[in-house]
Amino acid sequence: MELVDQYLRKVNYLRVSVTDRCDLRCVYCMKEKMQFLPRKDILSLEEIERLCNNFIDLGIEKIRLTGGEPLVRKDIIKLIEKLNDKKSTTNLKEITLTTNGTLLNKYAKQLRENGIERINVSLDTINPEKYNQITRFGNINKVFDGINASLDEGIKIKINTVVIKDFNENEIEQLINWTDSKKIDLTFIEVMPMEETDISREYQFTSLTDIFDRLNSKYKFQKSSHKTGGPARFYTSNFLSSKIGFISPLTNNFCASCNRVRISSTGKLFMCLGQNDYVDFRDIMRKDYSDNYIKEKIKFALNIKPEKHDFMVGSKINQYMKRHMNVTGG
Ligand code: 5AD
Ligand code: SF4
Repeated sequence: MELVDQYLRKVNYLRVSVTDRCDLRCVYCMKEKMQFLPRKDILSLEEIERLCNNFIDLGIEKIRLTGGEPLVRKDIIKLIEKLNDKKSTTNLKEITLTTNGTLLNKYAKQLRENGIERINVSLDTINPEKYNQITRFGNINKVFDGINASLDEGIKIKINTVVIKDFNENEIEQLINWTDSKKIDLTFIEVMPMEETDISREYQFTSLTDIFDRLNSKYKFQKSSHKTGGPARFYTSNFLSSKIGFISPLTNNFCASCNRVRISSTGKLFMCLGQNDYVDFRDIMRKDYSDNYIKEKIKFALNIKPEKHDFMVGSKINQYMKRHMNVTGG
């Protein structure tokens, strides 16, 4: 089975937000005072599993659990265990996680035992005070402990860094030195206009083009064929042992090779991170429709997957998505 959208893109990658909650409040992601959803609105673990199973039957090969922060969801390991079991009997090949890392110390062992081989950790700075500032109250030592615990378990880590104007642009080389010393890959991401936080996106957004040029003159990058299934373009350098990736949705549109769709924690399927349309699966599941019906709806949704996102950040145009990043995760 294969899922193909109306533009003949093969979709084999599903991202699932298991909670809208998070133990941090990164300034580009959330407002300081966020109103989180009542629990009854959030899919149960059984509903998430059922939805995933239908996607897997239709050809999904990779699932990424995200949030909010996926590890704050109670019993998340049980879901991972169930999904991991599917790898031996279906086309599902990989389950991964995007996490802020604060709870990895507690969970690394269980994650590894349940088939997690790779994790993306979001970390925008390695300076403790600045980390505290950007996350509004986080303690970076928890993240360092979590990363070390995961590496000790043999889990491969990739760091995701959102590059924020006048905040971490000057720390890029420091971050590269740090990840390189730990032999972990690092990906830089442009700020996307996902709903409003307390600070205007104009004051946060910076183009990765200039940063790429600056780094390229120092590291003499070579294009790498490395692919993770995501939108990052990777580079290697004779000066570095690990790879550097760039995710630049605003300055370098990669929609033509998009292979993914996203389920929100309330069961809405978003076919594109940078568009507002969705197909709701929660009511379908709660009204006792069959798995066949769910599969038909998934195929319908794929048929209306938009060609590309409409992200824009600029002095005159600020097109925001009408939802925060914690609805769908990264
Ligand atoms: N733009 C870009 N990245 C974002 N993230 C959260 N909000 C935004 C945004 N507005 C990132 C987090 C994490 C991933 C889930 O998405 O830092 O890496
Ligand atoms: Fe939490 Fe991630 Fe959003 Fe930061 S970016 S507030 S860690 S969900």
